[in-house]
Amino acid sequence: MSIAKLIVGNWKMNGRLEDSKARAAALVAASKQVKSAQYTMVVCPPATMLHPVSEVLQGSGIRMGAQDCHAEPSGAFTGDIAPEMLKELGCSYVILGHSERRQGHRETSEEVSEKAIGVHRSGMTAIICVGETDEQRTAGYAEKIVIDQIRLSLSLSVTSENTAIAYEPVWAIGTGKTATTEDIRKMHALIRAKVSDKVKNAAWMPILYGGSVKPGNAGDILRIPNVDGVLVGGASLKAEDFMGIARATMDV
Ligand code: PGA
Repeated sequence: MSIAKLIVGNWKMNGRLEDSKARAAALVAASKQVKSAQYTMVVCPPATMLHPVSEVLQGSGIRMGAQDCHAEPSGAFTGDIAPEMLKELGCSYVILGHSERRQGHRETSEEVSEKAIGVHRSGMTAIICVGETDEQRTAGYAEKIVIDQIRLSLSLSVTSENTAIAYEPVWAIGTGKTATTEDIRKMHALIRAKVSDKVKNAAWMPILYGGSVKPGNAGDILRIPNVDGVLVGGASLKAEDFMGIARATMDV
């Protein structure tokens, strides 16, 4: 099956206005030279940078996403941002349940599922993150943890068109360690099977891998069956590296 690989950059809480705009402009310029139907590129800047970055991305084909949202469309939720507000700024994706939110903000899979309903209500695509910690893998629970996260995080509104899953082993995020090809292959096959129990045409739902993806390992990772793209943190902060990862889709 040939669907374009989804290459998502999560800028996390990095950068200031000028360097974020410059990074977006560099991506726009580079992507004009490397036009390809092999990938769809998405960048997820911090919330305060969404508007200025959207102006830079306009007309480029590079899509924009947010890193989190609230489930409700409006209300007394100080400091939160509604999916509708993100949509209005030009977002078409929202990352949900990233391990940094599950751990740092004690976000539960049930909350992720409620947020997914909000994202779908607004006509955007949810990128739902799952993944086990080092201790959980060592104890032999990696698969159980991921299955439970999928079972509880996928709302009834999930379809193969409006959702992507990102498998990100927590121990691989920002550490320079990546899971082995065999571990990724097994986990992605399991996720595909689990998703098939819940949604129609599960073969079409993108399943991304995340955790220390770089230009040097992206090709090997993207060649693994059931890997439909990558979620990239650190290496998405350099336009050249992020572009290198997108370029790797052409040899897959
Ligand atoms: P990393 O982050 O690429 O820096 O490991 C991935 C992520 O957190 O999505």
